[in-house]
Amino acid sequence: MIKIALGTSNPHKLEEINDMLAEFHPESIEFVLVNGDFNPEENGKTFEENSFIKAKEAAKIMGIPALADDTGLCVEALDGRPGIHSARYAPDQKSKIEKLLEEMKDVPEEKRQAYFICTMTLVAPDGQILHTQTGRIDGYIGTSPSGEHGFGYDPLFFIPGLNKTMADMTLKEKNTLSHRARALKPMIEWITKN
Ligand code: IMP
Repeated sequence: MIKIALGTSNPHKLEEINDMLAEFHPESIEFVLVNGDFNPEENGKTFEENSFIKAKEAAKIMGIPALADDTGLCVEALDGRPGIHSARYAPDQKSKIEKLLEEMKDVPEEKRQAYFICTMTLVAPDGQILHTQTGRIDGYIGTSPSGEHGFGYDPLFFIPGLNKTMADMTLKEKNTLSHRARALKPMIEWITKN
């Protein structure tokens, strides 16, 4: 049994990750939360760097290997913004959604493509990178929020073909196709093989 610290304080991420872990049954791995407040400064220039900053801090606090993710919403009509700045785009989630809708108000339906990207980094107790995995899902930005599930930008993110947003999906549905699932599944496979 290997113990790995999860470098996040976001309860929504935790809920998703725990649900996926229960689904994949990685019996050889036990994930534990970082003790106390966990809020390292995310001053990296890429998703990889920020996930590394969080994982390294979690490993340092806990003295065991650690895994962390960094996620962003990249909108084509906004040249990839908010991207790496998704967390700091506006002060709270409601104003993030309002700001994004405002910025997109003149963008026609066929130019509203966007994607979520999630990079996960696993580090050793000394902070050395062991493995990195990235997951992505493509979709488009709606013209008004829809759905009560999920978190963050989910109510604006439509999945092509399904005609619903990530927030219209249950946790289980989101976890079958999300950016986070597409990073976590191969990460767990890598950990169980190595
Ligand atoms: P971070 O990875 O915690 O830095 O998240 C960056 C921003 O993206 C925050 O505003 C989150 O609320 C948002 N975010 C992270 N993951 C998701 C997701 O799965 N769906 C929608 N928004 C997300």
